[in-house]
Amino acid sequence: MALLEKANRVAHQFDLTDDDVRRCCAHFINELEVGLQRRSPAVCQIPTYVTEVAYGTEKGLSLAVDLGGTNLRVCSVDLCGDSTYTTKQSKITIPTRIMTAQKASDLFHFIAEQIQHFLQTYHQELLTPDKAKTAELLSLGFTFSYPAYQNSINSGILLRWTKGFDIPDAIGQDVCHLLQEAINELHLPIKITALVNDALGALMFRAYALPLSETRTSVGAIFGTGTNGVYLEKLHNITKELEGAYPPASNEMFISCEWGSFDNGLLVQPNTKYDTSLDQVSVNRGNQMFEKRVSGMFLGELLRIALVEMHEDPEVGLFREFREDAATEADGKIPFFTQWAVDTSILSIAEADNSGELLPLRQKIADALSIPEFCIGVEDAQAVKLIANAIGKRAARLAGTALASVILKSGRSLVNPHTFPVDEDSNTTNRALIDIAVDGSVVEFYPGFEAYMRDTWRVIDGIGPAIERRIRIGISKDGSSIGAAIIALIAAQQFQNGSNVA
Ligand code: BGC
Repeated sequence: MALLEKANRVAHQFDLTDDDVRRCCAHFINELEVGLQRRSPAVCQIPTYVTEVAYGTEKGLSLAVDLGGTNLRVCSVDLCGDSTYTTKQSKITIPTRIMTAQKASDLFHFIAEQIQHFLQTYHQELLTPDKAKTAELLSLGFTFSYPAYQNSINSGILLRWTKGFDIPDAIGQDVCHLLQEAINELHLPIKITALVNDALGALMFRAYALPLSETRTSVGAIFGTGTNGVYLEKLHNITKELEGAYPPASNEMFISCEWGSFDNGLLVQPNTKYDTSLDQVSVNRGNQMFEKRVSGMFLGELLRIALVEMHEDPEVGLFREFREDAATEADGKIPFFTQWAVDTSILSIAEADNSGELLPLRQKIADALSIPEFCIGVEDAQAVKLIANAIGKRAARLAGTALASVILKSGRSLVNPHTFPVDEDSNTTNRALIDIAVDGSVVEFYPGFEAYMRDTWRVIDGIGPAIERRIRIGISKDGSSIGAAIIALIAAQQFQNGSNVA
């Protein structure tokens, strides 16, 4: 079969029709509801015990430590109370030996040591013996971007690892307790007052920085190495037990969906043989099935699997001149033939390159897959582009479906948009009905990701074009650390004034 004909056929397998979108959305809302009623293993709807969004008026100094997919960040944040702040930050790459350590304590000691190092560098004044004795403990927000079921604002039992971490010893343990113990061993004057998922951190950071007159952020989402969403849910809809304390006057609470595990049984999600191959070689088979179709850790691999099949089929002959045995890589590993070796950034380049000869994409293919340039013709690049775009578009449409589901579930789309006339010429941003904070490399760098998401909102009942225009999205760049520091400060003040009671 001709190369481009085959590429078109492969690409079509990644189609997600408007009907598919509606079906996924209905099922998504159902899983969100089930997760509010009982401790569900899939979309587990974790209560965060955070009941209010930031207003930008918060004031004070706090710390955050952010355990992300690849980096560990430590920061101090001084909130000025007028939507501005000053911050000091440090970032280091997490060594692989720590990501797959034998004992949980190896990881948590490593984190505590980084906090100590940060304080020695930027806040020596907090480490003097006098201060340590007399000073009130500094509050710290622990941004933990893995599923941990919270029994209070500052505790959480690790349910499972995602994104390449694998320390079985930590599963079932309270990650805040483990970190607090490691902090105490180093005699640091710190109390962890909040455990914060990165999606909630991103949301809080955006909300703090928005002018007071703007619609408050009520949804947060990460589309990066992994994916997840948080939204503000009415307390009376959370019928499963809430063990922890929260301010008694609250009507709502942020819920962390852990939507990476949506539809693990593949009842409604699209599934191609490439998705199946990817799942089979993953460390968490049968889990995080939505994440495996949407997030940056997986999209490059999905593309690689499809391209290798087209290369190995002599009738199709993608990169026909390329011979594996003739390739010379220093370490003997050619990314094109190596699992997980292809980064998602190739999809962004493929989507962006609309030039006739596709030279930027051909260069990227040569660099990212280690295929010699003479083996990459225009047709080869066209085939790669077709498939990459199909994978990227499906990811964005699924991401849009997830956001639509939490918007509908939160009830925030029920306001009649016609009661807020849209003035096309003036600045309408403060008339948004719904404000969403997003972060992560996929949503930030994949061209048209937001536009594809908006396409799905327009075809979903209950949203449609009228509401879609009133949904505002903002990138909360690296906001998860600062957002956690904000939540830690608010929580510490609530602990102090006794408003955080069951
Ligand atoms: C984790 C979530 C996290 C998301 C984005 C997922 O793999 O399970 O807790 O929010 O990645 O980082």
